[in-house]
Amino acid sequence: MRTVYFLLTALWWMSVTPSSSSWAAPKPEFTIKQVMKESIKGHSALVKKACKGTATPDELDRMIRYFRAMAECSPPQGDMDSWKAKSGALLQAALAVQKSPQDKSAALALENAVECRQCHNPHKPSQN
Ligand code: HEC
Repeated sequence: MRTVYFLLTALWWMSVTPSSSSWAAPKPEFTIKQVMKESIKGHSALVKKACKGTATPDELDRMIRYFRAMAECSPPQGDMDSWKAKSGALLQAALAVQKSPQDKSAALALENAVECRQCHNPHKPSQN
């Protein structure tokens, strides 16, 4: 009887304990590829508008959400310190533009932080 009780307790415990995956760090809201496509790539990308000072407050919010998610991602290549520095600088520059959208020096800093090659060279695998 004691064994049965033990087994039942074990089953109950397994059913109320979250599976191991839910203990892991929360997944970023977007992948790096999504962030590229939705906010960085192309002439009318959110970040291009932000640099030109033509992004609406909503668009700036959206862009910052993408950049925040990207800073939480791990890059497919390159070391984490470098990635944290680059993705963090991009997020900070975006926040500065949101704070003062018409500030030319903030826009210039964002333009530099989003420069493709300085980030792709260390962090984007050449085959994709
Ligand atoms: C802060 C770093 C960073 C910056 C800045 C950056 N990228 Fe990327 N980009 C990446 C990484 C990392 C990948 C690879 C993602 C992967 O393979 O999962 C990538 C991939 C891409 C891709 C391929 C997406 C796909 O679906 O395969 C495109 C297109 C792209 N970037 C465009 C750009 C353009 C255009 C710029 C400049 C205006 C830019 N990126 C600036 C980090 C960056």
